[in-house]
Amino acid sequence: MERLTLTRPDDWHVHLRDGPILAAVVPETARRFARAIVMPNLKPPVATVAQAAAYRQRILDAVPQGVSFTPLMTLYLTDATSPAEIDAAVASGFIHGVKLYPAGATTHAEAGVTDLAKCRAVFARMEKLGLPLLVHGEVTDPEVDVFDREAVFIERRLAPLVRDFPGLKVVLEHVTTKEGVAFVEAMGPNVAATITPQHLLLNRNALFAGGLRPHHYCLPVLKREAHRQALLAAATSGNPKFFLGTDSAPHVKSTKEAACGCAGCYTAPAALELYAEAFAAAGALARLEGFASFHGADFYGLPRNTETVTLVRHAWQVPQMLAGLPNDPLVPFFAGQTLSWRLEAE
Ligand code: NCD
Ligand code: ZN
Repeated sequence: MERLTLTRPDDWHVHLRDGPILAAVVPETARRFARAIVMPNLKPPVATVAQAAAYRQRILDAVPQGVSFTPLMTLYLTDATSPAEIDAAVASGFIHGVKLYPAGATTHAEAGVTDLAKCRAVFARMEKLGLPLLVHGEVTDPEVDVFDREAVFIERRLAPLVRDFPGLKVVLEHVTTKEGVAFVEAMGPNVAATITPQHLLLNRNALFAGGLRPHHYCLPVLKREAHRQALLAAATSGNPKFFLGTDSAPHVKSTKEAACGCAGCYTAPAALELYAEAFAAAGALARLEGFASFHGADFYGLPRNTETVTLVRHAWQVPQMLAGLPNDPLVPFFAGQTLSWRLEAE
């Protein structure tokens, strides 16, 4: 196959940031995806409908002329979120999920939930209204090995949550383990998962290949090869519970290449192409469209896109660096590496 035309995809998990970085990263996502679920982990967090409305407008202002892109907004769940905010979120029409960060689990998760018991009224309202809960599925207990935090979260937190709120729509974001895949497969159609390109392409050896590789570091951290295989099998299975969510998480170079580097891979500048690489290696390019363009829209109850994009088999090099802040660029994931599928210019 030399060309692959597919329905224009959506990104069901992306960090677009705010301020000057927003303008640098929005065009990369908007060029590839018709819509994206925008993460609310700004500082301060996007915790109210009013904050989400203002952030949405700033994103729209950063979309290049002539490009159509719809940001799908989310609210950041805190211990203090009220059921009335959920009502307002649903009424807004532009909020499509509520993000659960266990307090301290990842970048800007300090304001996250300290105890799920504090959110029961909110979960009940979301269950009733059909608003999805988007979960960062890791425990924060420092006693738990960092590679086990997802599996432990599923056992201790997520399984009881789904049992208590059986109708709640839940997305296990950036699933990274075979335990996560098995959990999602075993639950009803209201439980789904996103999968990132880095977790499909790399295992944890990539963190230490010839030295410490900060641009391969994200949370949840890369896992061992058996987990990558399970993710690849899920993504290419055609199962509608699994769909594309890049978790593109830009941090400027100085904060990645540092003694204590930030977690996050900036995948947006090659997002669809990276997935194509992973699907092609698995001999499953024919399954890319369902994963990238159909399953997420169906889960969120949104119409599928009608435009198309085309990937051509043509080697190209991911840029070494891209504009970020003045004197502090962004280093994209796979910088300087050659990919074999390129997005055709419109
Ligand atoms: C994300 C970020 O930088 O906002 N980082 C990451 O490693 N994925 C937060 C997140 O999704 O965990
Ligand atoms: Zn994320």
